[in-house]
Amino acid sequence: MTNHHIALIPGDGIGAEVLPPALQVLEAVGRRHGFGLTCTLYDWSCARYLREGAMMPEDGLDRLRDKDAILLGAVGYPGVPDHVSLWGLLIPIRRGFRQYVNLRPIRVFDGLDSPLRAAGEVDLVVVRENVEGEYSEIGGRLNRGFPDEFAVQEAVFTRAGVTRVLDYAFDLAARRGGRLTSATKSNGIVHTLPFWDELVAERGAAHPAVTWDQEHIDALAAKFVLDPARFDVVVGSNLFGDILSDLAAAVAGSIGIAPSANLNPERAFPSMFEPVHGSAPDIAGRGIADPLGAIWSAAMMLDHLGHPEAARDVTDAIAAVLAKTDVRTPDLGGTATTAEFTDRLLQIL
Ligand code: NAD
Ligand code: IPM
Ligand code: MN
Repeated sequence: MTNHHIALIPGDGIGAEVLPPALQVLEAVGRRHGFGLTCTLYDWSCARYLREGAMMPEDGLDRLRDKDAILLGAVGYPGVPDHVSLWGLLIPIRRGFRQYVNLRPIRVFDGLDSPLRAAGEVDLVVVRENVEGEYSEIGGRLNRGFPDEFAVQEAVFTRAGVTRVLDYAFDLAARRGGRLTSATKSNGIVHTLPFWDELVAERGAAHPAVTWDQEHIDALAAKFVLDPARFDVVVGSNLFGDILSDLAAAVAGSIGIAPSANLNPERAFPSMFEPVHGSAPDIAGRGIADPLGAIWSAAMMLDHLGHPEAARDVTDAIAAVLAKTDVRTPDLGGTATTAEFTDRLLQIL
């Protein structure tokens, strides 16, 4: 029997509440499709930071390196500054393992009340550049506490880094609906984004089967709300992709359903799968978190591990539980707990 070694990092808040449902689903489809998962649990989190002074051990990445994939809940919690917790765990994993593609699909499922139900058939993927761009360590904060205090943050766009994520996005568009939209802001950001636009045009010419266009991020955000069905693959920088993926999830009904895959397409390093949402301190500990984002992320992991039929079973079960029952967590207008919703999904699976 095929066996996969998975690193589990539940993290903080509802991260730890949505991973067990995802694992239950993985075990169920594994039995049916004849593969097993060996999971190693890592307690890396803000609680660990408060206890031991670091989100993860110094050799953290080395401990993950030989795993087939990483499944993460969410990190970050009040009590530890976000830039400390995220740059102490999530971002080093994405960067250290060259997970330069962050794939964030979204669908409006039948039976789900989108605030924009009239919008029609929504089935899009945000491809987010995941290791450079606006998320950089270059910059500084000077004159702390003085009236002339200031902060500078440099965005980094490299030809190689942008080209590889664009090629991934164009290839994905060629396998899907053949359409790509690039998020830009080259009317206001005068160095990096004109360069991004040039590279999009260059890679577009190399992918003649794909029809592409570009939109300024402000106008694009409005079009995500007004007419989300027009989009197929949307490619954006690290920050633009981050914002668009929460927006797309909200358009589909809730940020709680959105999945993501942090991919190292060359497979030189493990890829990491995690819901788009964070640790949601406002609802943590109440057992009402929506597990769909984590479960859909687990399906993306199965696809990556070479089990597309098992992945399809999971996304079909998500679609069926929403279309055929009215069991939902509160974010989707229901009263079910995380466990009740998961049980219903497992029955349908
Ligand atoms: P968040 O995604 O945690 O929460 C935003 C809102 O959405 C909250 O009202 C929350 O209750 C709701 N929500 C999110 N997921 C939900 C789910 N599964 N079910 C029901 N409701 C859900 O974003 P935030 O408030 O900006 O961040 C909280 C913390 O999480 C911060 O420390 C932040 O840095 C961190 N964060 C981590 C990740 C990650 O680990 N990948 C991602 C985003 C935010
Ligand atoms: C996400 C999160 C992270 C990001 C934060 C927590 C650093 O918002 O995964 O979408 O911006 O990448
Ligand atoms: Mn985000």
